[in-house]
Amino acid sequence: MHSRGLLLASWAAFAIAAPSSTTTFGHFKSSDIIERDVAIIGGGAAGTYASISLKDKGKSVIVIEKKSRIGGHTETYIDPATGTPIDMGVVIFHNLTVVRDYFARFDIPLITAGSDSGSSSDSVSANYDFRTGKEVNITSPKQADTAAAYEKYTQFLSKYPRLNDGMFLPSPVPEDLVLPFGTFAEKYGIKAAVRTMYAYNPGLGDILTVPMIENQRVWGQSLVQQLSGGFLTTAHHNNSEIYSKAQSELFSAHSLLLSSQILHSSRRDDGVSLVVQTPRGKKLIRAKKLLITIPPRLDFLAPFDLSKDERSIFAKLIDAGYYTSILRNTGLPDNLSIANARPDTPYNLAALPGVYSLSSTPVPGLKLAYYGTPRSPLTFSLSDAKVKSDIIAAVKKLQRTNAEEFEQTEPEFVAYSSHAPFYLQARPEDTKKGFYGEMYGLQGGRSTWWTGASWRGQDSSDIWRYTEEEVLPGLVKGL
Ligand SMILES: Cc1cc2nc3c(=O)[nH]c(=O)nc-3n(C[C@H](O)[C@H](O)[C@H](O)COP(=O)(O)OP(=O)(O)OC[C@H]3O[C@@H](n4cnc5c(N)ncnc54)[C@H](O)[C@@H]3O)c2cc1C
Ligand SMILES: *[C@@H]1O[C@H](CO)[C@@H](O)[C@H](O)[C@H]1NC(C)=O
Ligand SMILES: *[C@@H]1O[C@H](CO)[C@@H](O)[C@H](O)[C@H]1NC(C)=O
Ligand SMILES: *[C@@H]1O[C@H](CO)[C@@H](O)[C@H](O)[C@H]1NC(C)=O
Ligand SMILES: *[C@@H]1O[C@H](CO)[C@@H](O)[C@H](O)[C@H]1NC(C)=O
Repeated sequence: MHSRGLLLASWAAFAIAAPSSTTTFGHFKSSDIIERDVAIIGGGAAGTYASISLKDKGKSVIVIEKKSRIGGHTETYIDPATGTPIDMGVVIFHNLTVVRDYFARFDIPLITAGSDSGSSSDSVSANYDFRTGKEVNITSPKQADTAAAYEKYTQFLSKYPRLNDGMFLPSPVPEDLVLPFGTFAEKYGIKAAVRTMYAYNPGLGDILTVPMIENQRVWGQSLVQQLSGGFLTTAHHNNSEIYSKAQSELFSAHSLLLSSQILHSSRRDDGVSLVVQTPRGKKLIRAKKLLITIPPRLDFLAPFDLSKDERSIFAKLIDAGYYTSILRNTGLPDNLSIANARPDTPYNLAALPGVYSLSSTPVPGLKLAYYGTPRSPLTFSLSDAKVKSDIIAAVKKLQRTNAEEFEQTEPEFVAYSSHAPFYLQARPEDTKKGFYGEMYGLQGGRSTWWTGASWRGQDSSDIWRYTEEEVLPGLVKGL
């Protein structure tokens, strides 16, 4: 896979993009040259964890983050009036050693999620059809049936133990793993689990048509176990705190470049050179290894001189859109959380693109709105303007249809965040042809390692475990 021919081909492609490699990588003052063991692209869940773990293993690192903060999908809105934090991105973690050790390292206390008053647990939930504004009466499966469904699901997963560690699929790929999830649920008698799976795994696309293996990326054995033991969250309900502490530590160690992006790179078997645009001008990074944690979309990877193999693998990934926001003046009671549902669909699932839910927050007057799209080959399948106008239209529809219960007010956004492209995944036909084996086969080639949600799943705990157990050992061995 990493043959000489490919390396030459990629150098040729690089030469076209950057006419003279001597001017691209030469002529840097020594004060503008950064030499490190590992350069890490992206300071979200994966990149931040990897940087701290490598630092603790005695390695020097530099994290390159395009935004002015690290944390990625972990976002905490602080209500200016009350100072109350609202985690509008990542909320819960698995009760695993890797998770407890990571938070303990930064002296951040964890609690069982929902075990205190900070989680608006006193709110009531209802289902409404956001197209008509009418309430929908959903008969939930009996608890015993749901428990039995998860039991059957766990039994199925236990046939493939390596799936608990990543997308390590048997070859040839068994048909069951690429069945549309709705078909899989019927075949294995786990229909009573579908609605909770849907609720806990938004941003996946349409759960019923998505291949079983893609829902499983998040709904693996580890997550199922949390249903009985309880999820963890931070006692301060401020999941950004770990990132702000990590950010200070990385800054003190000259190991972080914020608001920075790679312009050019040269990735060879003996190390990498990266030209980075930073707020203080261009810098040259020379590192023994590169760890890329951003979504591997071809447009985002353009400055990384991709080989033909890398290009053809990443071109196959599709994704979905996932968006969060906080609204005021919704006209809905503070104690009411509303999920979008339909009276006439299997499992009462709402159609995408659309609003998933309008949820209570600990701050009176504020509601969290979540929105999702179906899968698409595009990096951004919807504009933010369209997402925002759909959310406002849904709230207005609820108000008008239920004029006696809800106030007629003009909703406004106090916060909005696009998480697109989300949940990068393969099409079933590519998975059957061995896509994930090929993608994982890229690990370590041209001094480059890869991690993050696209490699493991949209789940911080699983990403930390995958990074620690499956990626860093090989990376560190080569240093
Ligand atoms: C609303 C929401 C709720 C969620 N809830 C949970 C939850 O409760 N529990 C859970 O475990 N998971 C949750 N997730 C899933 C979450 O995606 C993962 O947990 C995890 O944050 C993914 O980490 P990552 O490092 O792969 O990506 P990210 O966290 O997105 O990190 C990628 C980083 O790379 C940066 N970047 C992107 N492009 C470049 C570039 N070209 N150069 C430099 N930097 C770049 C980004 O700015 C970002 O900081 C949630 C996600 C969302 C959106
Ligand atoms: C997490 O799991 C550990 C070990 O099983 C247990 O002692 C602890 O009570 C659990 N919950 C929390 C919040 O740590
Ligand atoms: C909703 O369900 C409850 C009980 O299951 C029933 O009493 C009520 O009439 C139903 N309402 C509607 C609008 O169908
Ligand atoms: C939440 O954490 C952020 C980052 O550490 C910090 O700036 C903020 O003051 C904290 N706010 C609250 C209310 O805990
Ligand atoms: C929710 O709040 C409304 C007032 O806005 C109140 O009438 C209702 O009783 C509350 N419901 C619950 C379950 O607390």
